[in-house]
Amino acid sequence: MSSWVSQAIGKINADYQRSADTHLIKLDKINIPGVDIYLKDESTHPTGSLKHRLARSLFLYALCNGKIRENTTIVEASSGSTAVSEAYFARMIGVPFVAVMPAATAQSKIALIEQFGGHCHFVDCPTQMHDEAVRVAKARNGYFMDQFMYAERATDWRGSNNIAESMFGQMSAEPHAEPHTVVMSAGTGGTSATIGRYIRYKGLATRLLVVDPQHSVFFESFQTRDNSVQNTRGSRIEGIGRPKVEASFQPDVIDCMMQVDDGASIATMLWLSEMLGVKAGASTGTNMWGVLQVARSMQQRGESGSIVTLMCDSGDRYQDTYYNPAWVEKEFGSTTQYRNWLDDIPLN
Ligand SMILES: Cc1ncc(COP(=O)(O)O)c(C=O)c1O
Repeated sequence: MSSWVSQAIGKINADYQRSADTHLIKLDKINIPGVDIYLKDESTHPTGSLKHRLARSLFLYALCNGKIRENTTIVEASSGSTAVSEAYFARMIGVPFVAVMPAATAQSKIALIEQFGGHCHFVDCPTQMHDEAVRVAKARNGYFMDQFMYAERATDWRGSNNIAESMFGQMSAEPHAEPHTVVMSAGTGGTSATIGRYIRYKGLATRLLVVDPQHSVFFESFQTRDNSVQNTRGSRIEGIGRPKVEASFQPDVIDCMMQVDDGASIATMLWLSEMLGVKAGASTGTNMWGVLQVARSMQQRGESGSIVTLMCDSGDRYQDTYYNPAWVEKEFGSTTQYRNWLDDIPLN
């Protein structure tokens, strides 16, 4: 192995050594008797989302597989969080980074990528991203990171402080230490694959529920086991839901799935912010809607236990969109019916 590669791996490992784990917040304000709800706050990584873990894993995976050398240009197809995190690691090891993204990508994300020294290359439509990333990587003799292909295998699912090991470890001193259910949404499907595999590896009774937004094919393909389903419309919940079944999506380690209306995701995100003081992105709203459905049905069945989910990123990134009432009204119409349901959740 070249000394450059070993130094690059060393820099990433040193950065990890300097890092603190993310908090697992107990949402004590929600008062559903017998049910404890926890939110793992992935927004506190240096690059602001759960994609920090994925980017670290993808870089280490590619470096250890001999795919990245000194001056290799890294190319990724991403409309946001993954590109921000990958730009951070590319700068750390001193290689150029190009994010292939839709021209409509939020200005704040473009600014973050450029702040980390990355270059943004635009396409007109999200469906062109993959092929254009392959082309750019070839033209620059670079390496296409391909998060949707490699997310599930780049993460050490048995341990290495992956998201599952961290989450279950942080639960160990809680009244219901082994969660009844973990709820997660899928973008690449990598995080849910890691959690599902870890649950099986450790022989836990925990159930993995994956929630899916409108216009995503994951839910349908989970039910039919048809990997060829496609949708022409993209998801409106940033970071999650896909128009085609991605290679990293692993239905066999998921226990059940639930489709969540976009209006419900937005209403829950706003409810979390107003009622609980947790300002998260829209995918966290999708996750929490799923959590609250499970909590209510546990309550109805007289069950007790804990439910854990993730805060994938912070709401600060979406000031102009999901947190802008005029924009929400225009894009999604009224979300009042979901808010009314949420307002019936008893709070302390
Ligand atoms: C904001 C946000 N939430 C959730 C996810 C889903 O994570 P995963 O790709 O591991 O399925 C992503 C992934 O892009 C994301 O950016």
